[in-house]
Amino acid sequence: MAGKVWQARFSAPLSQAVDRLNRSAPFDWKLWPHDLAVSRAWASALHSAGNLTKNDLAVIVDGLDRIGKEFAQQGGDFLTPDDEDIHMGIERRLLELAGEPALKLHYGRSRNDMVATDVLLYLRDACQSLQAEVKGVAGILLDRAQAEAGTPFPAYTHLQQAQPVSLGHLLLAYVTALQKDDRLLSDCLARMDRCPLGSGAVAGSAADVDRQQIASDLGFKRPSANSVEAVGSRDEVADFLYACARLGLHLSRMSEDFILWSSQEFGYVTLDDSTATGSSMLPHKKNPDVFELARGKTGRLIGNLCAVLVTLKGLPSGYNKDLQEDKEAMFDTAETLQTLLPALADTLKGLSFNRTVIEQRMVPELKLERLCERLVSEGVPFREAYRVAQRVALAADKKGLHVDALTVADLQKVDDRLGQQAADLLRGEWSIPDSGVAGGSSAASIKAQVVALRQWLGD
Ligand code: ARG
Repeated sequence: MAGKVWQARFSAPLSQAVDRLNRSAPFDWKLWPHDLAVSRAWASALHSAGNLTKNDLAVIVDGLDRIGKEFAQQGGDFLTPDDEDIHMGIERRLLELAGEPALKLHYGRSRNDMVATDVLLYLRDACQSLQAEVKGVAGILLDRAQAEAGTPFPAYTHLQQAQPVSLGHLLLAYVTALQKDDRLLSDCLARMDRCPLGSGAVAGSAADVDRQQIASDLGFKRPSANSVEAVGSRDEVADFLYACARLGLHLSRMSEDFILWSSQEFGYVTLDDSTATGSSMLPHKKNPDVFELARGKTGRLIGNLCAVLVTLKGLPSGYNKDLQEDKEAMFDTAETLQTLLPALADTLKGLSFNRTVIEQRMVPELKLERLCERLVSEGVPFREAYRVAQRVALAADKKGLHVDALTVADLQKVDDRLGQQAADLLRGEWSIPDSGVAGGSSAASIKAQVVALRQWLGD
């Protein structure tokens, strides 16, 4: 390959097979806005250091602007088969556009510090755009939670009905998890505050550049502290991939709930036709593909994290070509979530909760806990009250009934402290525990959660 910038040192052209393996241009072209920003900052630093004239700088910046326009139109087609990666592609085109001044631009820098910087700039954008999407989904869930604040719902443990809660409280659990993910992404962002540019290939830069100025120009707080570490690490990539994998995990678990609830067996929710999919063979099918894909794609998100961690774990210090493997993982993770989150938002917005079905499915035994509380309030020690309630459950079991079908006489046979009041309680309306304890499912707690979450969303 005659086009390689480093070709003069070699006596044979690169094998085509090796070139195919080595080239990152087919995927790293997506870094173009960031690579151009890096070159702008570097050009300006070289100018300040006396390595570029004012005219050189103007011509280079003009060339970089034109390249930006070309990239915006052509995307990956901008690069030629001779371009090894995004950095070499831009260098080639800048030489065509700017001529001789372009030859001076790579002084004191390396693709190693460029790519480390590009990656952080990409991740910064990705974190912010994902945070906006996460908040979009959270906002929809929050609206739905508020609307269902008074809807009784069976909270499950071990996938067995455990305690009646407000459906709103349960939906707020998802929003709370998303808020934690948003914070994690903010933490990731806060740690992307050191600029690697100026670290050179591994030992720092020969050019006498003002690294603090470069960092500020690119929106970082400060320059990275150690050139070997700066070009050889991808900690921020791993942080980002973990934050995204955990976000995926939350979306996946929520999706699993909705998949179950939309089944005939549960029937708690019905998907809107605009967000469900059909079968090519079975005429009646209405499938929850969006939730299944959320669950399925989480495997990829976790896989991308594992791939990068495994790539990093055996590397010697400094830059190694293995690090090129970070790109596809981070692009795939960011793009996967950017596709998934809006689809989830639409789906969650459109689905309906079948309140009557939910109520019919709630087993009357969920009221036995209330019965215990009633007995405790009458002075019966908890463990004794609990045993009384257990015997009520057993009595109903033996008759093949639910506890709400037991007569007053049945109840009295279990324990003479039980009577009409107990029968009324077991047959009565659903009541959600309303002790007002913070973080619980009482109306007061739900209100407090909604206020705090709305504040987070900036509503
Ligand atoms: N395409 C490379 C990467 O993504 C850029 C750095 C190449 N550095 C080098 N010395 N060959 O990691």
